[in-house]
Amino acid sequence: MPLPKAELHLHVEGTLEPELAFRLAERNGVRLPYADTEELRKAYQFDDLQSFLDLYYELMAVLRTEQDFADLADAYLARAAAQGVRHAEIFFDPQAHTARGVPMGTVVEGLWRALGRSEENHGVSTRLIMCFLRDESADSALETLEAARPYLDRITGVGLDSAEVGHPPAKFREVYAAAAALGLRRVAHAGEEGPPAYITEALDVLGVERVDHGLRCMEDPALVERLVRERIPLTVCPLSNVRLRAVDVLPEHPLAAMITAGLLCTVNSDDPAYFGGYVADNYHAVRDALGLSKEQMRELARNSFLASFLEDDEERRARYLAEVDAYEFS
Ligand code: HPA
Ligand code: ZN
Repeated sequence: MPLPKAELHLHVEGTLEPELAFRLAERNGVRLPYADTEELRKAYQFDDLQSFLDLYYELMAVLRTEQDFADLADAYLARAAAQGVRHAEIFFDPQAHTARGVPMGTVVEGLWRALGRSEENHGVSTRLIMCFLRDESADSALETLEAARPYLDRITGVGLDSAEVGHPPAKFREVYAAAAALGLRRVAHAGEEGPPAYITEALDVLGVERVDHGLRCMEDPALVERLVRERIPLTVCPLSNVRLRAVDVLPEHPLAAMITAGLLCTVNSDDPAYFGGYVADNYHAVRDALGLSKEQMRELARNSFLASFLEDDEERRARYLAEVDAYEFS
């Protein structure tokens, strides 16, 4: 039985496996510029974040109908459940779809077909987090928040993703203030490829409660001290960091140092179809590469529930934490 855990950094579009991509392409009459799944998999070699994003956005062309989004999310939830996930806070990128003429309603209602039945079908509770693409304009982000208004009962929070460098958090000050006023929780990718100053800006200007990646905080001891003091959770994605070359090799991943520094770290899969592993695979990879102890693994799982947006259901959080505490490693 796998260690029970929450997944807090997962882009649903990044769970599109080659087999499903081809199945949806055929169903929707979309032509992919790859002969087959094998040729597509060969394209999964990335130099940096942008080279991944180019393929990630290209493959989204196959996602067109509510059922496509439902099938995508359902396939993820089934895999997540098998990896011990009890709770998933799932990112989606509405602008990547609305820009192709797929309405916000199709995306949210489609995802909801799977998420609304996830507890009974997979035993996984869920939340949805809508991300703004930071390489699009601030106005586009505001329009996206406006388009999401009819669906806000299904959306827990907002996030910020896509190409980081050159698109500092402060660009999105206004939309984050509007999201906060609507009662939405706030997270942002920061310090993946961008400098530590972007992490500080995400905290101070956007008011984020959790930082996605946050790796480069380790370059700024005063920032580390602040993150520890304020108990700001970081959603670390080890296999992603290696595949996108934020870290050379897994044994050099700063996660062990981050844990030692007292940071509230969680382990997540980011875009598992592209980076070679789902969340338990990430746990096992860091355990093996960094020599993490069983109690450190348990701490990572505890952190995932502590950092999750379960303030509206503390009873559930307590139940999940008790499961982690009672877990017996084989
Ligand atoms: N970083 C930025 N944008 C993304 C990512 C990521 O790790 N995954 C999907 N979009
Ligand atoms: Zn991400």
